[in-house]
Amino acid sequence: MGKPALSFEIATTVTQVESWRTKTSGRTVGFVPTMGALHEGHMALVDTARKTCDQVIVSIFVNPLQFGPNEDFGKYPRSLEQDFLICQKFGVDAVFHPSIDIIYPQGETETTTVQPPAQLISGLCGAFRPGHFIGVATVVNKLFNIVQPDCAFFGEKDYQQLQVIKHMADDLNMNVKIIGVPTMREEDGLALSSRNVYLSEAQRKLAPTLYAALSEAKSAILSGTSISAAVAIAKSRITSLDDVTLQYLECCNPRTLQPVSDPQAPCRILVAAKYGDVRLIDNLVVNP
Ligand code: PAJ
Repeated sequence: MGKPALSFEIATTVTQVESWRTKTSGRTVGFVPTMGALHEGHMALVDTARKTCDQVIVSIFVNPLQFGPNEDFGKYPRSLEQDFLICQKFGVDAVFHPSIDIIYPQGETETTTVQPPAQLISGLCGAFRPGHFIGVATVVNKLFNIVQPDCAFFGEKDYQQLQVIKHMADDLNMNVKIIGVPTMREEDGLALSSRNVYLSEAQRKLAPTLYAALSEAKSAILSGTSISAAVAIAKSRITSLDDVTLQYLECCNPRTLQPVSDPQAPCRILVAAKYGDVRLIDNLVVNP
């Protein structure tokens, strides 16, 4: 006989998550950490989690520790009630949405932190967002300890984050399987992101150039153009746009995130650019 269905739960405290976990004993639990403002990209993680595990829990927590002093923590989009409805609609079993006090009872500046290796966080987004990946690794470690999932799901959209979490789980012998999920895109190629709502109409029109530049560079490399030439063309395509500032566009080893110059080697192409004040990132596999 199958196990009885459990009703949708919303937990705000660690104890409530623990009692939900007691009810789920004997079933596998998949975990999708998010900062809310949920969209179809997040739901791609939920769908994969539902196919992989018996029960799915989503966390919604805008983590102050991963935002720099001049970043958008205060104005990060928040839509909790709508997020609960979306979770229910997509078959999520439980949502954990703690307050800052629950996650950082001593304040986020007084917490013990997780320090990922420099090789993984000194380049790419890490170079422009000092402390960001310490904040991400720390909160994800805490959430893993609270939720105790069998599997956890992260988007390839935030590729450096996915690698930081994979390495953390391996290096610290965490008993959780990290599963990466491909990027969901708009029809014009723009990667779905909670931050896309900040884009003005004009910026939104230009935003698909990120994906277009990556796709062109990928095809060029695969048809024999050198990595340096392909990267230079892709960079100039982005820097020629009005009110767009390129932060980086690089080909990296998909696991170590170190620069790659050999077109036959495993390779991922990654980009970050600011469209006005809105920072967008994207990446594509070139060679797995
Ligand atoms: P957030 O930006 O809300 O993203 C939550 C998860 O959704 C991440 O794993 C992210 O990679 C994934 N995601 C976002 N857009 C996606 C898309 N278009 N396609 C596929 N997956 C997508 O990433 C964070 O929150 C935070 O850093 C967090 C891990 C929750 C720690 O605070």
